This record gives sequence, structure tokens and C-alpha cells, in this order.
Amino acid sequence: MIIAQISDTHLTLDTPEAERRIREFALTIADINALDPPPDAIVHTGDIVHNGRRDEYAQAAALLAKAHAPVYVLPGNKDDRANLRAAFSGRDYLTPDSEFIDYVVEDFPARLIALDTVRSGANRGDFRAEQAQRLVEWTDAEPDRPIAVFTHHPPFEVTVGPDRFHFETTESMALLQQALQRRGRIVAVFSGHVHRAAAGRVGTIPASVVPCIATSLRKGDYPPRMKTCPVYHLHRFDPVWGFVTESRVVGMQGSAAGEQNNAPIPAASLAHS
Ligand SMILES: [Fe+2]
Repeated sequence: MIIAQISDTHLTLDTPEAERRIREFALTIADINALDPPPDAIVHTGDIVHNGRRDEYAQAAALLAKAHAPVYVLPGNKDDRANLRAAFSGRDYLTPDSEFIDYVVEDFPARLIALDTVRSGANRGDFRAEQAQRLVEWTDAEPDRPIAVFTHHPPFEVTVGPDRFHFETTESMALLQQALQRRGRIVAVFSGHVHRAAAGRVGTIPASVVPCIATSLRKGDYPPRMKTCPVYHLHRFDPVWGFVTESRVVGMQGSAAGEQNNAPIPAASLAHS
């Protein structure tokens, strides 16, 4: 089982960055489509668009519709839940039974749980008691398969960059951390938001952050030839070994398949890979 994780495409329209953001998004999907073997799923961990606008979501949905693998989306702080839901209304996992865009995907050898960590009007994340309760219920629902959790805001201390904590309150991050660890069945946490590669732990659970697809917003030091190349993560699941994560660099020139970078995480900065 292979999951391609992309994040923080920050798609805009009518700005000087618009063309570049659309091109980077499109090249990333083309690169994923060219993978051999192909991924079983693509997860976008939020900040799909930059201003939450309906026309931005229409463009993003059109780009994601080109993906060969099933696509799962979750919101980031730049997203608008209502407009996101409207643009992806054909996806049956976006059930309107909750204010939050939280869901479980049961189709794979590892269960996938997407958690909505957005606090409306804030850049930092949040997590509520009702979400924690539901997460534990979902975790309990099936004892045999391990679980990978996807969030926009990383629920751990990020030790690269100036911001170490990405939640509004330490209490809300602690609530999420406790719920993640409650049953010992969650084996990986994959996040975005920070715009740079990072690795950490939630208790004993390995956790990582994928850099942003929008290269003009990317943080960290990259060699000149990589500065305009989007980076995404491939999470390969093996029942014995668990998840192994690989960074992939999308070539901005030449073939859409790009070039591959096999540097494993933890990689605080891809400049060293
Ligand atoms: Fe972002």
C-alpha cells in the first residue's frame, strides 16, 4: 500500500502567483500519476487554496480530478469548510454529519483517519472534546488493522523553524495527543502546515510534516536547482515494517515524472539530501 501525501498547494487566482501555483499543483499530480507502482491513494493535508474562494476550489477540484488514484482532502487554516465541501461534494467521505471534516477510510490494509484541526479565523490549530471522543470510537471500531492519521496542523513540537507549537492552546494539542495514543493502534501521524520537512513523535507514534507544494512559500534551505521543484511524500505501508516515508521531488523542467530523491525522513532540511 502506497499513499502519496501532498499539502499546502495554496492555489490562488488573479494574483502574480496564480500561474505558478496552478503549474506546481498540476505537475505534482502528473508526477504522482507517473509513479510505478502507482499509489493507492492521494491525501491532501490542507491549505488547498489560499483564500477559501469558490473559484479557487473549482480550479483545485479540476486539477485533483486528473489524479488516477482516489483523492482524500482535509482542510487547513486557509480553507473554507463550506466552499471545500461544495467543491468536493461528490466524495462520499465528506459526510455532512459534523461541523468538522473528520472521516475514516476503510478501503486499505491500514485504516486512514483524517482529522480537522482548523479553528475558524485562526492560523493555529484546534481540537475539540467531541472530536477526541469520536476518534477513540473510530479507533475502537476495528482492532486488527493499524491506523495512519492525517492532520493539517502537526500535533507535536516542531523543532525546526521559529514556531514550535502550531495549536492555539497547549490543552487542545494535548487532547489530540492523548486521543491518538489512547489505544496503541495509531502507528503514524502525517501533517502539513509548516511548509518544511519535519519529523517528531506523539508519544511513541512517529509523526512527520510534508513540505508545501507551493514552492514560493516553502521554508528551509534548498539548492538552487530545487527551489522551484515541489516536494511531496510517499508513505509505503508494510504489515511487518509499518510505514516508511520517502520524499519525492517534482521536476519543473523536462519530464513530468521528475527526479526521485530517496532521502529518508527525518530530514530537517532537504538541502542536506
Ligand atoms: Fe499552508
